[in-house]
Amino acid sequence: MSSIADVIAALPLPLICAPMTGVSGPELTAAACVAGVAGSFPTGNCRTSEELEGWLAGIQAARAAASAAGRQVGPLAVNLIIRGNRRIAEDIDLIVKHGVDFVITSVGSPAEVVGPLHAGGVSIIADVASMHHAARALEAGVDGLVLLTAGAGGHTGWANGFAFVRAVRAEYAGPVVMAGGISDGAALWTARVLGCDLGYMGTKFIATVEARGTPEYKAALVTSSLDDVTLGIAPNGIAASQLKTAGGSAGHSVSGVRAVTTAAALVETTRREWFEAIRGTEALAAKLLA
Ligand SMILES: Cc1cc2nc3c(=O)[nH]c(=O)nc-3n(C[C@H](O)[C@H](O)[C@H](O)COP(=O)(O)O)c2cc1C
Repeated sequence: MSSIADVIAALPLPLICAPMTGVSGPELTAAACVAGVAGSFPTGNCRTSEELEGWLAGIQAARAAASAAGRQVGPLAVNLIIRGNRRIAEDIDLIVKHGVDFVITSVGSPAEVVGPLHAGGVSIIADVASMHHAARALEAGVDGLVLLTAGAGGHTGWANGFAFVRAVRAEYAGPVVMAGGISDGAALWTARVLGCDLGYMGTKFIATVEARGTPEYKAALVTSSLDDVTLGIAPNGIAASQLKTAGGSAGHSVSGVRAVTTAAALVETTRREWFEAIRGTEALAAKLLA
């Protein structure tokens, strides 16, 4: 099992295929890992512990097979939604048993899961939307933060990403993930330059063949623009970014969805955009420093 620092160091592209209710199944999670980025899913997408055990075993088998075939395989993360989750203890046992690399907590304080997960050798990053929640999560002992920013898909943040990352960085030097607004590899690089170690992509991975979503939902993402995303309220009362027209969750990053592709093709395109952006920054820096 790895620390978050090990995970970051080993990832050639610092990207997490974000956990998404109703969208992330074993197909998408395994495809993301096999493509070389971090894969994740919320345990709530499994109706029972038996189903969760089957998903974890299947994903780990796919990762092991790809690794044996010489591929650079990304880590496996699992999302524990805290509030209202009656299966947390059973989920943690399975997470430890199946060698999950790290856990992402969301919706609720991570305090109750830090002890059992650390005892099982699993690192935790907590999804937070304010400085107050960031401080509380760090007090609870998490190993890193996911900064939920304005315009993120699903349960969204309110804070501007630039200001939020810099405010957190003024107080915290540990692992930080940007969630929201990462519409391509250039945005991912910008998040890295801003001070984040990793970036989330959620909405863009919905438009993949491996994602669980109706063909209509995926097609709506292709034709929607940033202006088609609005702030609504999810069934659990939390503010959420949604498509105005078609319904369904999507973030501002929908502006970067051009087609429904495979997860591998999306990762490859993002990797190409990432390196183009790095080279562009290099050229700009050379000019500015001349
Ligand atoms: C359909 C959908 C479902 C989501 N479900 C979850 C979830 O179950 N747990 C969670 O922590 N975040 C969830 N999110 C938020 C994502 O993990 C992530 O923060 C977000 O997608 C990042 O913004 P982006 O979509 O613009 O990339 C969801 C997002 C979407 C679009």
